[in-house]
Amino acid sequence: MAAELLSATSFIYDRAVTERFPTVGVIGAGQLARMMVAPATALGVRLRLFAQSSQDSGAQMCEHVVGDYKDLEALKKFARDCDVITFEHELIPLSVIKGLESSGVRVFPPSSAFIYSQDKAAMREKLGAFPSPHWKVVTSASEMDQFPLIAKSISGGYDGRGVRQVNSQDELEEILKTTPQLLIEELIAFDCEIAVMVARSPHGQATSWTPTETVQKDGICTLTITPAASIDSVLAERAQQLALDIAQEVGVVGVMAVEMFIKGDNIFVNELAMRPHNSGHWTIDGSRTSQFEQHLRAILDLPLGDPAMTDEFAVMGNILGGEKMDMYRPYLHLMARNPELKFHQYKKEVRLGRKIGHVTATGSDLLQLTSDVQHARDYMSGAIDE
Ligand SMILES: Nc1ncnc2c1ncn2[C@@H]1O[C@H](COP(=O)(O)OP(=O)(O)OP(=O)(O)O)[C@@H](O)[C@H]1O
Ligand SMILES: [Mg+2]
Repeated sequence: MAAELLSATSFIYDRAVTERFPTVGVIGAGQLARMMVAPATALGVRLRLFAQSSQDSGAQMCEHVVGDYKDLEALKKFARDCDVITFEHELIPLSVIKGLESSGVRVFPPSSAFIYSQDKAAMREKLGAFPSPHWKVVTSASEMDQFPLIAKSISGGYDGRGVRQVNSQDELEEILKTTPQLLIEELIAFDCEIAVMVARSPHGQATSWTPTETVQKDGICTLTITPAASIDSVLAERAQQLALDIAQEVGVVGVMAVEMFIKGDNIFVNELAMRPHNSGHWTIDGSRTSQFEQHLRAILDLPLGDPAMTDEFAVMGNILGGEKMDMYRPYLHLMARNPELKFHQYKKEVRLGRKIGHVTATGSDLLQLTSDVQHARDYMSGAIDE
């Protein structure tokens, strides 16, 4: 009898404790969801993923269901057991997000903001008052007579897929055969590319991290340097303010990356990503609050954390799939060589050019940090043997 009473009491106690903590549902279970697991665990927040497969990077180590993210009914069912729904990729059809909202599900970022990270033409139109490259949506090559220019798929692009430099009307005509509508942009001969990460909560509290310089090769980000080394503090502050103003303008809730081009003293907005972003991975090891923790705080309408850096510089290198299949063995050499390096594995199948992990170093000697990160990155992917 006593034992029964005791277990009944502890059951009530457990429920009371756990029920005060919310459940966050994430649509998508890639590496971004995976990196949300650690801060969710620390905060006591239950995280559930809507995965495409149990082998997905995040699904390997987090509670999940498997389903099709285009299936509104399946998502509604998933959402029943969540207090708030968020995303870790931009492929979920807007109609599905709206369907969730109209059935009373709390979705952050809301569809009214999310559209600007899915539809580059809608984003250009919405941000008309912000400094941007000249742009136009075209369906016929004859609409353009000045080349070179940049042609982009209006939606569905990532890692530079769907973005091309076009040098002639003939080339443009060729692309229009497979993509009947394109966003055409003035080609900006930029000095460097930066990204400013911001976070905004439903009641409008907003923070931003110091701007990050992103280095891309073949359309894929290979290295980030924070604070952006090629810009001065005045420009950095302007970029941060710009990102905060854009967050307010589009009404984002959660974390957002504002990608920008810098040319001289000019800033041009490139695009928006409304989720934790590759250019914010350094925050895990180099900021008081990581972008993954901040995203959870923002969508739960909790006070936001301190985005200050914990060191003078943070350098992050993406590990891209190469010849090496074994990602564990290189630890022996690299950890002995550079004990300060921080490794992050996504546990994805190694495929050529695919982002399979990243490595970060923080400290005060930027040249040394950069060289250590580049070495580790290239060693991991097999581009160098020593
Ligand atoms: N107007 C432009 N002028 C010059 N370069 C550009 C322009 N637009 C894009 N680029 C180059 O192409 C890259 C990819 O473009 P964008 O960010 O729009 O595409 P994306 O496929 O969504 O990329 P990702 O998802 O990797 O950020 C940019 O990082 C930049 O290097
Ligand atoms: Mg981009």
